[in-house]
Amino acid sequence: MNKLILDNLNYKITEKVPIWLMRQAGRYMKEYHIVKNKFNSFMEMCKNSDAVTEITLQPIKKFDFDAAIIFSDILLILDAIDINVEFIPGKGPVVENLEILKNLKLLSRVLNREKVKPCYEAIKNIKKELIDKPLIGFSAAPWTLATYYIEGNITKNLSRIKSFSYKNSKEMDFIIDLFSDLILQHLLNQIEAGVDLIQIFDTHSYQMDHYMHQNYSIRQVKKISKAVRKKYPNIPIIYYSKNFHFLDKEAYDYLNCLSLNSNISLKEQKKYFKGNICLQGNLDPYLLVEGGEYMVKEIKNILLEMKRNSFIFNLGHGILPQTPVENVFKLIEIVRSFKK
Ligand code: CP3
Repeated sequence: MNKLILDNLNYKITEKVPIWLMRQAGRYMKEYHIVKNKFNSFMEMCKNSDAVTEITLQPIKKFDFDAAIIFSDILLILDAIDINVEFIPGKGPVVENLEILKNLKLLSRVLNREKVKPCYEAIKNIKKELIDKPLIGFSAAPWTLATYYIEGNITKNLSRIKSFSYKNSKEMDFIIDLFSDLILQHLLNQIEAGVDLIQIFDTHSYQMDHYMHQNYSIRQVKKISKAVRKKYPNIPIIYYSKNFHFLDKEAYDYLNCLSLNSNISLKEQKKYFKGNICLQGNLDPYLLVEGGEYMVKEIKNILLEMKRNSFIFNLGHGILPQTPVENVFKLIEIVRSFKK
């Protein structure tokens, strides 16, 4: 087993820097489109275990990343409580959220097994093929899942969810707690199916005020991570966020790694946590589209900055569809040839 990622997640400083990329399987790869064209919808594809297995392994075969991430989507959980989710090209995800307040009590507390089973089956299949590398499982954080649920179609400033939570704090607490439970179920199921580590995506955490961030993000992620740790103490947990201004100094108590968006300085976070936590990130995905000397310079800056910290190279956010594959090859070559 290639243990570079797992070693860094256990706070070792390895000679080589491991690399994987968020959304490493996806639209920038022609192989992905070939599979996707066979399906009527993205969600249908996410519920086909053969397609999920194939797509998950595509970037490993092509680029030899140090880990695979199960191909799925954070919104699968909404689909699994029978809320309609559609991915409309050019518009992004649209979630059916009619009459939220009236129907809150009708929200399901358990995942519809038929809808999530293909994801777990794919994990088992991938683990049979991918014997030498770790497989990453994932989920959204409750706040980020709630943004899609309450907004329906995400507004630029998350104005709908913010307005909703200021006006209906009890209902908001109910939704967040319920989503936390569903997320925990989904993460534990993925671990039981065989993933080696998990990542929790809190992509929309930067739009909240201090109270919301503490209450709906940090507290919930802490609760979920502690529950995962209690059952599976050896499964490392990565938390992706765009907001580290109020992050708990004791985060290493329940997380192994923080994955940072490109707007956050690795140098500052390294100082703040005094090397007590593994960091992941944070090349700007736009630089990977650009390529050339600016990209090369920034990759080297990141590698030098993180030389003495446990560290996993990644982007600050998901890889963009227009990314040229040559730039991905170049990035990997630079990271692989760097010796601490
Ligand atoms: O990282 C991986 O390779 C695993 C696959 C993965 C997808 N989505 C596949 C996907 C992962 C980890 C996600 C997580 C996800 N999904 C997040 C959190 C991380 C992030 O990027 O912020 C969020 C916010 C979503 C919600 C989502 N799914 C959006 C906003 C969209 C549409 C806009 C976009 O970026 O394309 C999706 C669709 C989606 N999820 C695609 C893929 C490959 C594109 C679907 C297509 O082929 O048209």
